[in-house]
Amino acid sequence: MKMKSVYIETYGCQMNVADTEVVFSILGAAGYGRTEDITKADVIMANTCSIRDNAEQRIWGRLEQFNIQRKSRKGVLVGILGCMAERLKDALLDSGKVDIVAGPDSYRRLPELISAAAEGTPQMDVILSREETYAEISPVRTDKNGVSAFISIMRGCNNVCSYCVVPFTRGSERSRSLSTIVREACECAAQGYKEITLLGQNVDSYSFEGQDFADLLGKVAETVPSVRIRFSTSNPQDISGKVLDTMASHPNICHHIHLPVQSGSDRILEKMRRRYTRQAYLDKVRAIREKMPDCAISTDVIAGFCSETVEEHEMTLSLFREVGFDAAYMFYYSERSGTLAARKYPDDVPLEEKTRRLEEIIALQNSLSLESNRRDVGRRFTVLVEGPSKRDEADLCGRNPQNKMCVWKDSSHKAGDFVEVEVTDCTQATLLCRLVE
Ligand code: SAH
Ligand code: SF4
Ligand code: F3S
Repeated sequence: MKMKSVYIETYGCQMNVADTEVVFSILGAAGYGRTEDITKADVIMANTCSIRDNAEQRIWGRLEQFNIQRKSRKGVLVGILGCMAERLKDALLDSGKVDIVAGPDSYRRLPELISAAAEGTPQMDVILSREETYAEISPVRTDKNGVSAFISIMRGCNNVCSYCVVPFTRGSERSRSLSTIVREACECAAQGYKEITLLGQNVDSYSFEGQDFADLLGKVAETVPSVRIRFSTSNPQDISGKVLDTMASHPNICHHIHLPVQSGSDRILEKMRRRYTRQAYLDKVRAIREKMPDCAISTDVIAGFCSETVEEHEMTLSLFREVGFDAAYMFYYSERSGTLAARKYPDDVPLEEKTRRLEEIIALQNSLSLESNRRDVGRRFTVLVEGPSKRDEADLCGRNPQNKMCVWKDSSHKAGDFVEVEVTDCTQATLLCRLVE
């Protein structure tokens, strides 16, 4: 019999990328091959995100496309995995467009769910677990360049940020065993990966048998000294001096911290149930820069949260100026039903005003990114080659430790090489460099 093949589209955060790789591994062991051609797939799946309404709308749109395949080829099954499966549950099955609904903690059951669905009855498993970390599963890596790998170090989230759906879709926080993480890092190195990103919604609350995140980070960095180590996400209230010391003392840990601020106003931060103030955030930024003057800091921000005034929005702008972020992911508030904010606070900033505030933040960040890049002109960096640049095949591109995209002329290196470059010019998005011989 022909081997069945599975096609998966991945949406949302890096955790979902890592989860898709776990799913490929579980399905591979059950005899399913992987295909990147949807028209050849026996099982078509989307690993989904619920973080904002437009993320979900996109998936509903994709489901229409999936159903063209499902209707035109006999036996094709459509599955929804991930956060939207967990949040919408029956609503997905009731749409009649989906055969399998599997939440983030039920991937081990996928072979069983697919077989049962093939008998004609739609299947759903959205039970969340307190223990599941897929610890011993070796993911099937999907990075096209074979250079960069994600390793999940924990799952779920125990914070209760009032706007956020993640605790509902991913369940409570649990840490994966340190030894299986270290073993996976060794596997990555043996397979030729040159960069590992340790993933969790709140990496600083990693805790396993008395070992904290700094212990884990140091251990991974020491075990694979020729591999570059990154991590995400750090929460401003939890990132510790010990983590900063570990970063500063290990040359292969990249000097980049993603430190989502969400708002520059204390009143809004409190309503968001973030557990820091504007001042505490600024103090963290100062501590980071004191220890590592070359450390890049990026952030996430939400414009137009419930009851945010123009003055409070301006406090976000002034915080951005004060910190001078190197990069930012910027969103306007999207109400998620079931969250504390949806239950307690009216979503009362009109869409037009949310968009205006968001655009103001984006315009400011664009100028801050340009300023940050200009400061790098004349500096030298070690860059990990990702491959040819999109704009010009004669150029290579890759990131420096600060996670900035670099582009330079080069015909002598390939993906996975570390090269020395000097920045000669920049745009807001890219450092234009020359190779240092
Ligand atoms: N665990 C990470 C964030 C994960 S979600 C942390 O705590 O920082 C990624 C980002 O999406 C968040 O930082 C936030 O900026 C944004 N986000 C989350 N919920 C949102 C919502 N309801 N509306 C708009 N943006 C949201
Ligand atoms: Fe959501 Fe807050 Fe958890 Fe991040 S820390 S995933 S924003 S609840
Ligand atoms: Fe989205 Fe779930 Fe990640 S909601 S951001 S895919 S944890």
